[in-house]
Amino acid sequence: MTQENGFPKDFLWGGATAANQYEGGYLSGGKGLSTLDAVAGGAYKVPRKVTFKRQDGSLGEVTREESLPDGAVGYIDKDRYYPSHVATDFYHHYKEDIALFAEMGFKCFRLSFSWSRICPKGTDEVNEEGLAFYEAVIDELLSYGIEPIITINHFDIPMYLADHYDGWSSRKVIDYYVFLCETIFTRFKDKVTYWMTFNEINFLRSWTQIGIHSVEPQSKFQALHHIFVASAKAVQLGHAINPNFKIGMMVAYIPAYPMSCRPEDVYEGIKRNRQQEFVMDVQCRGYYPSYQLKAFEQEGIHIAKEADDDAILAAGTVDYIGFSYYMSTVASSDPNAERSEGNQVLAYKNPYLPISDWGWAIDPLGLRISLCQLYDRYQKPLFVVENGFGAIDEVVDGNIHDDYRIAYFKAHIAEMKKAITEDGVDLIGYTPWGCIDLVSSGTGEMKKRYGFIYVDMDDQGKGSLNRLRKDSFYWYRDVIQSNGSEL
Ligand code: BG6
Repeated sequence: MTQENGFPKDFLWGGATAANQYEGGYLSGGKGLSTLDAVAGGAYKVPRKVTFKRQDGSLGEVTREESLPDGAVGYIDKDRYYPSHVATDFYHHYKEDIALFAEMGFKCFRLSFSWSRICPKGTDEVNEEGLAFYEAVIDELLSYGIEPIITINHFDIPMYLADHYDGWSSRKVIDYYVFLCETIFTRFKDKVTYWMTFNEINFLRSWTQIGIHSVEPQSKFQALHHIFVASAKAVQLGHAINPNFKIGMMVAYIPAYPMSCRPEDVYEGIKRNRQQEFVMDVQCRGYYPSYQLKAFEQEGIHIAKEADDDAILAAGTVDYIGFSYYMSTVASSDPNAERSEGNQVLAYKNPYLPISDWGWAIDPLGLRISLCQLYDRYQKPLFVVENGFGAIDEVVDGNIHDDYRIAYFKAHIAEMKKAITEDGVDLIGYTPWGCIDLVSSGTGEMKKRYGFIYVDMDDQGKGSLNRLRKDSFYWYRDVIQSNGSEL
């Protein structure tokens, strides 16, 4: 849908959050434990640790990139601090927070459901109190005319499924996920239209995200296959329950530019981009792309499939592509080229771009480039469901003058607008990440803040949890009010 003058009039302006980083109430209202409840805080370049108990009763810890010993189960050490337990306490503040979102004029709000709040073990036992909590949140949003956008699963899995089934390595977990979907689709069929099946499944962190103990590619890709099947089944089921549902996928999109026009660098760029295109190809086209089948072959990876898996994938393609965009990266064929820091580990530094305090390259045009690449490739509606600037904010006499954040958003929104008006991209909405301060997923810190709303909480879990409007709050309110014509 090309717009000559700017954003479509029904454009979904809003903000985004995730249960494990925002909700808190980790044991309240009958919620079961999630894997992320056993992940301690970290800092920039200090990895967060998963705490666990071995079968012999001894305790241990590993980073999220390492494997857990066979048979180890998640363990919560009462002397450690785990950021998900309280987070910024949406659980007890949802009315206040939604009123603030409404004051900014949000048209939509993206939140995730915590699987273990709805099904404490992740199995087919439902916790009515958990469902009732989400229903109260949805009703509150609807009372202000704010459209709920639901991520069904964001970065975690009920700990019981990780401990007893080795998470997504088991096909049984497909059934449990589909049961979860049936429960929420049925309950909210007249209240929710937009869903996303999994957040950023191209990241695949073993135990914390998908509940598996091993970090071997064979195990991860087998688990991912089960996730693809579960997602495709959810899409079909959702459409059967309500044909008006819009069910999307969600990918972390970090476009890789070739370091130079040397053909070797260009080819490295293609290879790097395939890592994220692969998950989109499967979910948008309904089959594994040939380059990925070849990569499996070359790496000796064998994906075990059941007879009707391919038909399920083909029948369960998504309605739209949700993606996060924070930065671009660089691909190079020269292993001695300068490496980048922060979230771009294993990639290379772009000498043309500034970086944030956490080493993330700031590249507004990269958002337009991403929109063009995704729309040209798939011709599906796009939804920028995460974008934002993690920064340290200072409170001065109750005010937060976050002009750096406003500058970041201004530049990114201007590029989105050009993608719509000049490139003809069909973009349906924009939900900046952490529209209210929440815990950083990467580092577990509070001081890496994204919000338009400040929350008084520190890296040790101390603070009043009071909410304050930042300067960006008023700025974003005016952007929404003018439908993006005043930036
Ligand atoms: C995305 C995730 O990768 O980036 C969010 O979907 C995450 O959960 C966001 O919080 C920003 O990353 P970080 O590490 O700064 O919190």
